[in-house]
Amino acid sequence: MKHLLKLLDLSGDEIINILDTADRLKAEQKAGKPHAFPRGKTLAMIFAKNSTRTRVSFETGIFQLGGQGIFLSNADSQLGRGEPIQDTARVLSRYCDGIMIRTFAQQEVEDLAKFGDIPVINGLTDFAHPCQVLADLQTIREHKKRLAGLKICYIGDGNNMANSIIVGALKVGAEVSVATPEAYRPDAQVYDFAMSQTGPRFMLTTDPRAAARGADVIFTDVWASMGMEAETAARTVAFKGYCVDDEIMALANKGCMVQHCLPAHRGEEITEKVFEEHATEIFDEAENRLHAQKAVMYLLMK
Ligand code: CP
Ligand code: NVA
Repeated sequence: MKHLLKLLDLSGDEIINILDTADRLKAEQKAGKPHAFPRGKTLAMIFAKNSTRTRVSFETGIFQLGGQGIFLSNADSQLGRGEPIQDTARVLSRYCDGIMIRTFAQQEVEDLAKFGDIPVINGLTDFAHPCQVLADLQTIREHKKRLAGLKICYIGDGNNMANSIIVGALKVGAEVSVATPEAYRPDAQVYDFAMSQTGPRFMLTTDPRAAARGADVIFTDVWASMGMEAETAARTVAFKGYCVDDEIMALANKGCMVQHCLPAHRGEEITEKVFEEHATEIFDEAENRLHAQKAVMYLLMK
C-alpha cells in the first residue's frame, strides 16, 4: 500500500491490517505507551471543504505520532488561486512526508498521488470517504467481535459514504444491503465492483425496509452532502421515507448497531430517538477516526 486514495485499491487483507494496527495504536494510546514511529514527520492537510472530525483527528494523530500537521485551506493557499495540483504535489513532496486532502473531484486526489512522490491520503471526495469507513469497520469489529458474515445496511444517498461502505464491507466479507432512491444510486464503478463479488451478497433496492431486514448494522448519512446544498429542497422530497426511525430499526436484528459519520441532521436522515439510543456507538465511531488514521499514517509514512 503506497497511498489511501479509495478502498477499491486495497485488498481485504490490507484493510484488516489497518484495523489491527489501529487497535494496537489505540491500546498503546490508552495505556500511555509511546508509539514506535520516527519523530519529526510532517503531514500537509489540504481542505477544500469544511471539517471538524477529519481536521482534528489528523492533526492530533500526527502529533501523537511525534510529528506535525500543516493545515492548508483552499481559501488561503495558492490552490485557491488556481495553482495546479501537479505543481502542488511536487512542491509538498519536497517538504513533507505525507499529504491528506479533502476536496471535490476524486481525480485531484489521484493526480496528487501521480505527480507527487509521498503518500497521499483521501480525507473525503465526492466519490469516497475511505478514512471514515476504516474507522467504521474498526468500531463494528469492536462491538460485534467480527466483520465477516455480518449484514451491513446503508439507507440514504448513494454518496461518498455509501460508495466506501459498500466496497469496504464487501472486502472484509460482510453482506451489504443498500437502499437509495432510483435517482441517487451509488457510483456505477462501485455497483459494478459489488455485482462482481462472488462471496458475500450485495443488494441494492429503493425500499429501506427491505434493506433493513435482518441487518446487524444500519448506516445513514446526510441527504445533501457538502457542495450539494443547493439541492437540499429537492432532496428532502426525494428522500421522504428514508429516515432511520423506530420502524426501520424494528426490522433489523436484535442488537443492531447504528453508525453515522456525522454531522447528523436529526429529523431528516435519522430520528433524534434512534440517534440518541445509539449515541455511544456513533461517538465510538467518531473517536476511531483518530486511531484508524494513525494506523494509515503509521503504515504509509513510517
Ligand atoms: N465525518 C467527517 O468526516 O466529519 P468532518 O466533516 O467533520 O471531518
Ligand atoms: N456525505 C457527507 C459526509 C460528511 C462527512 C459529505 O460529503 O458532506
